[in-house]
Amino acid sequence: MSDIPILRPLLDVGAESFNPTFIIPLFSQRPRYSMFSFFKPKPLLKELLPTHYIDIHSHILPGIDDGAKTLEHTAALLSRLQLIGFSKCIATPHTLPEIWENTAEGIMHTFQQTQTDLDKTHRHMLHHAASEYMINEAFLIRLLSEPLLTLKDNYVLIEMSYLNPPLALREIIFEIQLKGYQPLLAHPERYLFYHQDTKMYETLKKMDVQFQLNLLSSVGYYGPEVAKVADFLLKENMIDFVGSDVHHMRHAAAFDHKMILKSERQLRTAMEKNVFFG
Ligand SMILES: [Fe+2]
Repeated sequence: MSDIPILRPLLDVGAESFNPTFIIPLFSQRPRYSMFSFFKPKPLLKELLPTHYIDIHSHILPGIDDGAKTLEHTAALLSRLQLIGFSKCIATPHTLPEIWENTAEGIMHTFQQTQTDLDKTHRHMLHHAASEYMINEAFLIRLLSEPLLTLKDNYVLIEMSYLNPPLALREIIFEIQLKGYQPLLAHPERYLFYHQDTKMYETLKKMDVQFQLNLLSSVGYYGPEVAKVADFLLKENMIDFVGSDVHHMRHAAAFDHKMILKSERQLRTAMEKNVFFG
């Protein structure tokens, strides 16, 4: 039924002026959106990874945070990530005072020791070590007293508490930048206190904070609300980079799940951008 009004102007032109060479190309073009688009199956998350994907957020160093517990766990995770399609990983153990009391020196020591102990294939995958810094008042003291570990150049991975942002958020961001670092906020979609106040995302972007989306948000691993905000941030082109935030095998296994977001194109673009950290 719906085709009839579309066809009528073409068929009404009269036999003498009927030109099939005009109609055939018109109908042979693949429509950009068809009713069948709705039924197109969503890809698995691992199928979206670009060749040479570099992961910039992982808890893969053994025994220094809530990620891999032993060297065997590190090796098993790296093997699994390689199978999924990861090319390289940057290890980013937590620096979280009173819970994970890591220091730049301690993280680099563990990184070098792990590199020595791993076999050649795994060693090659473990590209570099930095940290995921919890930003709070204690972080401010660290920032003013010692250099931070960066992902590359001046990029520093930061996170906030899931309960509330730090009271001195603006001052901390300002001090990070004053020290010459580029703040990269881990998993902005996971801060529930911003879900009802998405203007705060714009405010942070205006403060030149870059955003790193967790890839597992795109399969609904953290729930539908986080997936919805992930979709929003992608749609608004606010996501600069992505990361796995892998801690254990369950996280790695979720790469076999279907991506559920609408913003597939933007997600692919953000994944491609990670090549910067290679
Ligand atoms: Fe993390």
